[in-house]
Amino acid sequence: MSTSVQSFLNRVGMTTPIIQAPMAGVSTPALAAAVSDAGGLGSLGVGAMDAAAARKAIQDTRALSRGPLNVNLFCHVPAQADSERESAWLDYLASVFAEFGATPPASLREIYQSFQTDEAMLEMLIEEKPAVVSFHFGLPDARKIQALHDAGIYLLASATSLAEARQIEAAGIDAIVAQGIEAGGHRGVFDPKQPDEGLGTMALVRLLARQTTLPVIAAGGIMDGAGIAAALALGAHAAQLGTAFVACPETAADAAYRTTLTSGQTPPTTLTQAISGRAARGFTNRFTALGTAAGAPAVPDYPITYDAGKALHAAAKAKGSAAFAAQWAGQAVPLSRALPAAELMHALQAELHETIGQLASLQTALR
Ligand SMILES: Cc1cc2nc3c(=O)[nH]c(=O)nc-3n(C[C@H](O)[C@H](O)[C@H](O)COP(=O)(O)O)c2cc1C
Repeated sequence: MSTSVQSFLNRVGMTTPIIQAPMAGVSTPALAAAVSDAGGLGSLGVGAMDAAAARKAIQDTRALSRGPLNVNLFCHVPAQADSERESAWLDYLASVFAEFGATPPASLREIYQSFQTDEAMLEMLIEEKPAVVSFHFGLPDARKIQALHDAGIYLLASATSLAEARQIEAAGIDAIVAQGIEAGGHRGVFDPKQPDEGLGTMALVRLLARQTTLPVIAAGGIMDGAGIAAALALGAHAAQLGTAFVACPETAADAAYRTTLTSGQTPPTTLTQAISGRAARGFTNRFTALGTAAGAPAVPDYPITYDAGKALHAAAKAKGSAAFAAQWAGQAVPLSRALPAAELMHALQAELHETIGQLASLQTALR
């Protein structure tokens, strides 16, 4: 292992270059603890929680494991309410609510606060001092970054482009999560109003490894040890896997999500803004179709749209339908395995070593 990978792993407290992606609504203390106990980095996605709930999740994880923990926050520019856009969106969804004997909410609200404006969350993090804090959708201001660094916390931030990686570098963050277009869940783009280059993991990781000075963590479409080895070969210091962990029994995924993941015939994935107001990759379903249908109005800001999305899913779920669920999944989801997290970690590490061995024998063949 290269000395730079080794020093990155040592700094974070990992013994294997595998990060379980933070997954708001899906990752749990039990999942993070199992991954950290196996030598990786377990993560909690607390972007949709307030400081008290996030503190409890951190403490629950600590009760299960003494390993390193990554706590992930959403740093989007706070939503701007737009009653016309919101009413038009609710009108558009009204007939689907009616199918389930429900009516859309009278109005929509910003269902959670960005870390950019959340002082209580900052204070809690400084008190709890998780080993790692990571940011998605942008960065907090210099004061928050300094305060977290002063508390000894290692900082990560997601980038989907070289320009975002340069902002991360300039802000003094410690490492970059290079999130390719293959990735499940929300794209971490900083400004959703700008065109999205849609770089794949392979191109993005190589670009950032060559053109930035920070350790790079590859994310997007990595499901097994061969994928992790490929990421390391491109110059990544570790791989961050989300979709690969969703079917683990330790997650909060509901029964319908698990059934889709393990059906053996997973639907295709697509990027949609219709569920939350920001581009996210998940299984195609009636909700994603609504987003691309002719005449679909513009979605309200993130996460205001998510308020409608969650209400529609709840109405459908109450009638036994998962057709409007946010089932986030990456492009390589057919490779999903429903294993306990400790077993999955064991398999990933064995496959990683096997792939490295295969590459070594390839070298002999190529001579
Ligand atoms: C269900 C799900 C939820 C996610 N939630 C978050 C989140 O809260 N914060 C975050 O930074 N990334 C989140 N992501 C994105 C992951 O960090 C990561 O970029 C992605 O999972 C990598 O691609 P893969 O799913 O193909 O492994 C989520 C991904 C999934 C699948």
